[in-house]
Amino acid sequence: MPKKPLIEEVNKHIYKNSISFHVPGHKNGHVYEGTTEFKNFLKNDLTELTNLDDLHHSEGVIAEAEAKLTNLYGSIQSFFLVGGSTVGNLTMILATLNRNRKVLVQRNCHKSVFNGLKLINAKPIFIAPEISEHLGVAGGLSLESVKAAIHQNPEAKVMILTYPNYYGEIYDIRKIIDFAHGKGIIVLVDEAHGAHFQLGNPFPTSALKYGADIVVQSAHKTLPAMTMGSWIHVNSSRVSIKKIKEYLEILQSSSPSYPIMMSLDGARSYLEEFTANDIKYTITEIKRFKTMLLKIEGLKLVETEDPLKLVIQVKGGCNGKIFQEVLETHGVFPEMSDQKNILFILPLLKSSMAYPFEEATNAIKQSIEKVSHLKNENRKVQLHENKSCTTLEISYSEMDSYKEEYISINKAMNKVSAETITPYPPGIPIIIRGEKITNTLIDLLNLCIENNIKIQGGKYLSNKQIAVLV
Ligand SMILES: Cc1ncc(COP(=O)(O)O)c(C=O)c1O
Repeated sequence: MPKKPLIEEVNKHIYKNSISFHVPGHKNGHVYEGTTEFKNFLKNDLTELTNLDDLHHSEGVIAEAEAKLTNLYGSIQSFFLVGGSTVGNLTMILATLNRNRKVLVQRNCHKSVFNGLKLINAKPIFIAPEISEHLGVAGGLSLESVKAAIHQNPEAKVMILTYPNYYGEIYDIRKIIDFAHGKGIIVLVDEAHGAHFQLGNPFPTSALKYGADIVVQSAHKTLPAMTMGSWIHVNSSRVSIKKIKEYLEILQSSSPSYPIMMSLDGARSYLEEFTANDIKYTITEIKRFKTMLLKIEGLKLVETEDPLKLVIQVKGGCNGKIFQEVLETHGVFPEMSDQKNILFILPLLKSSMAYPFEEATNAIKQSIEKVSHLKNENRKVQLHENKSCTTLEISYSEMDSYKEEYISINKAMNKVSAETITPYPPGIPIIIRGEKITNTLIDLLNLCIENNIKIQGGKYLSNKQIAVLV
């Protein structure tokens, strides 16, 4: 039985020096002159040839690779995704919700969740997350807020959660899943940042183990998969596998990328062969890195539950964005930063694999010397409404009958936003089209403008204008 069925079959094809009279048009890289790494890479970019199976009707090597994935995660059935957790989130929503129905949604979900809700004109009941004290960012849900939302909306039969957050913080999702199941509610979990939770202690426990009905994970975020490589796990008989397959076929390309699928096969195998010793080694290396960092004056480390996430702060309070820019000039590229925090995603290392932690420590030391005099000039801004449940002011089905108009954001209080405005990363919208604009939201928008934060949506935000529905 092959260990990496898809990778091995593609390799066999490449070694045959086959002559391509098929798509893609780069003809196994042939049309590119000379020998370059890119040209070599393109040899893997094949298509549904004899023996290479078909993602949308898998019965050969892709079926074998997906069966190994299912087996590893212990789900009912797991599927490769070539469009990221984005396509997984859209699929789980479309496959479980009917149009125009109420659905309970953690408010700090990724934008793909909101896009899915829009596609089916859902009536979302947003549940406000707790704010994490250390980091000052949106975290998980409390059982109390979930109970209240369910009590007020007994018609809602699906709940969408995000676990963990971008920074690796978790919450007591088990109790929430159990409570929801007790009320006959299906629980869908965006676990984009938790593909490695399968390793168990000392990593947090996956929502799969707690019985979530569907779990979506970005293998490319913490496992060695290529960007866009993700997977969706169907974990209960409350979900129709037929519908999941149907939407995966609708939403994903009919020519899915072989390099991405091969990298999923590779990432699964990497995880499967990751031993207790490898875990020990990774954790020891992370500790060693942290010990070196702790010796740097002016640097503060913030631990979250996920050992692969490392958050650093500058003690004087320098804005995280500014520190990130300086770090990058020293060759260290973090995942993201906000007003306060810089987030590093650390590698899963097999025993004795070296990683340039010393070099990174030196670069961080040199960078901090340049910013430690900077003070925190950030205003304190409330992150979320005090209300634990909110909803859209104008529903998805009514929105299109409204016109749009740009007005000054400082005059937008109580108007309804015509734009979804999302800082990226982390990709959690501050305002969703159809939501009422409150003082808190205006504050957050001003803060984004002041801090020059990378935004998706908000066409004229830099001119302090927002589109509203009229
Ligand atoms: C919580 C969360 N869900 C979903 C996504 C989308 O994942 P992908 O990039 O794999 O499409 C992201 C991306 O950052 C995310 O942070």
